[in-house]
Formats: sequence, structure tokens, C-alpha cells
Amino acid sequence: VPKRTTVKALVESDGLTSIPSNYSYATHPNESDASDPNDTIPTIDFSLLNSGDPHQRSKVIQDIDKACQEWGFFMLVNHGVPETLMKAVLAGCNEFFNLPMEEKMEFATKDIWKPIRFGTGVDIKVEKFFFWRDFVKVIAHPEFHCPSKPQGFSEVVQEYCKRSRKVTMELLKAISESLGFEENYIDKAMNLKSGWQIFAANLYPPCPQPELAMGIPAHTDHGLLTLLIENGIGGLQIQHNGKWFHVNPLPNSFLVNTADHLEILSNGRYKSIMHRAVVNSKSTRISIATANGPSLDTTVCPALELVDNESRPAAYIPMKYKDYMNLQLEGKPGLEHVRLPVA
Ligand code: SIN
Ligand code: FE2
Repeated sequence: VPKRTTVKALVESDGLTSIPSNYSYATHPNESDASDPNDTIPTIDFSLLNSGDPHQRSKVIQDIDKACQEWGFFMLVNHGVPETLMKAVLAGCNEFFNLPMEEKMEFATKDIWKPIRFGTGVDIKVEKFFFWRDFVKVIAHPEFHCPSKPQGFSEVVQEYCKRSRKVTMELLKAISESLGFEENYIDKAMNLKSGWQIFAANLYPPCPQPELAMGIPAHTDHGLLTLLIENGIGGLQIQHNGKWFHVNPLPNSFLVNTADHLEILSNGRYKSIMHRAVVNSKSTRISIATANGPSLDTTVCPALELVDNESRPAAYIPMKYKDYMNLQLEGKPGLEHVRLPVA
């Protein structure tokens, strides 16, 4: 049984020049596949959604529709969340990861229903290999939880979650419209008043053999929309046109992606895109994802208005969000379970 440690502690131990074999994922091209240099993730100007000009709003909604269909990812600028808050929450997470091992290990669990979870590569026993990542995840909505240390951490995380959730709610109004519904459609159908929000902070310490390790293996996100920020180091790769595309988000933007339950609700119009995080040998990367989903009791299925038995049959079976999460807990990707062959 490996000693319980963290990737951070491993890296800080003296003289690490190669990675332990159980961190060796596979040889994988750490460089993203050569992609068209003119290809860039679309940018959406959030401020134009509520500028008071209905023509401008409908133009942005069209752009969001296109971005969600062609990429499943977009960068959101002018979103109104202060840069100081984004910096403060990244700094707070760094301080959390700097806490003594015992104080973090108090939250070590594999149970996704625990309101606060700390995890590290070495702690995942069911996996054949370990990932070059330490993380902390908290349930932020409908009820907010957070470690009380470091001092001030809980306050800044709560404020950040509140602000990013507000942005998400506005985006989901726009997405309701881009799918052809009235703006409160998703709010009502997914019972967002009790919507589930997870705050997940990831630490990727420098790795002596980045081409052998993996920060997060390829996956899709559960929920409706994920908002991601990072400390400017880069490492996220997304699947685009059958290739791994390296993402360099604009400073102070949110990187937004459509997640599994939006794919299901939209009956496949918006796909939940595979992504992964690779690591590097020089710098510590921190990323923060807020995952915003339906309420746990909501049964998600394709919107009836988007289903036509002849031309567009339902491509997913209905499943309660909570049951979907329990499948993930057993290590089974939920989307594969609910997707029908017509998808
Ligand atoms: C994630 O997919 O949850 C995080 C990816 C990243 O660190 O960029
Ligand atoms: Fe993800």
C-alpha cells in the first residue's frame, strides 16, 4: 500500500528526476496535435447580452449557438466578475494546497457525496495508475460548504461561487433562447433554484517527465455548464475536429464548456466535449472549475420540443442527475449509459 501522500509532497521531496512508475500514464503526445493556427476557440462578449439592445442580444445568442455546436467551448469576456476576485480565489487555493498534509488529509475521501473532498493521485486505489494532480472539491450550491482553513478561504470561495453561478444563470437564459425556448426554460426544467454547483480546484505541480504523466485523463463534465479559470500556465487540451487542441485562455476570461446534461437536454445539438489536462516540467498550474448542474432530483431527458420521432428521435434515455452521479461513482461514464445508438 503506497504511503498516503500528495503529488505536491512527492515533487517537494529531494531529487525527483523521474516519476514513479505508477504515475506513468502512457506515452502520449504532450504537444497537442498540429492544428490549424487560424482555429481559435470563439470569444463571447457577455456584456452584449444585457446591453439593452435586443438586436445585439440576438446576435450574441446566435454566436453562442454556433460556438456550442462547433466547439462546445467558448471564452467569455466582459463577464463582470472582478479580476481581483479571480486572482484572490486562485491565491486562496494555492494557500489551501500549502497547508500541512494532515489538515488536507482530513478531507480525503472517494465519496463524491461528501461536501468537501481532498484528493491526490496516490489516493485513488481503484485506478491502475495515478494522476499528476491534487485537488479540492466542495459542494457550493444549494448549500455552501468549504474548509475553514486557510483563513479567509471560505469567504472568497463563496463569493466566487456566487458570482460564477450568476454568470452561469445568465448564460443558461441565452442558451434557452439559442435552443428556441423562452429564457427561463432551462431554469424551470432543470430546477436551478436547487441546482447543484461544485467548486473544484486543481493543482498540477511541475513534473520531471511531463510526457509520461497525465494531470486529468480525457473525460466529459457532468452537469449543464462548466466555467474554468486558471493561473495562466496552460495545460488544458480539448477534442476538436478529431484532434487534441491546446487551449490558451484569454487573461481574466472564463472558459465555458457545455456539459453532459446540456447535451442530453438539447438532444445532441450541443455535445459535451472530451478534454484533458497535461502537465509541464517548469511551472505549477492551478485551475478552478465550477460545475453547474440541475437539481439532483431532476430527471434529465431530451426536451420534448427538440424530439421528432421521424426526423430527430430522442437520442438519450431519461435519468435522474443523482443516479447519473452514482454511476460515475462506480467509475462508469454516465453519458455512455444514457446515449442511444441514434445519437
Ligand atoms: C477539468 O477538466 O476538470 C479541469 C481541466 C483543467 O485543469 O484545465
Ligand atoms: Fe472537466
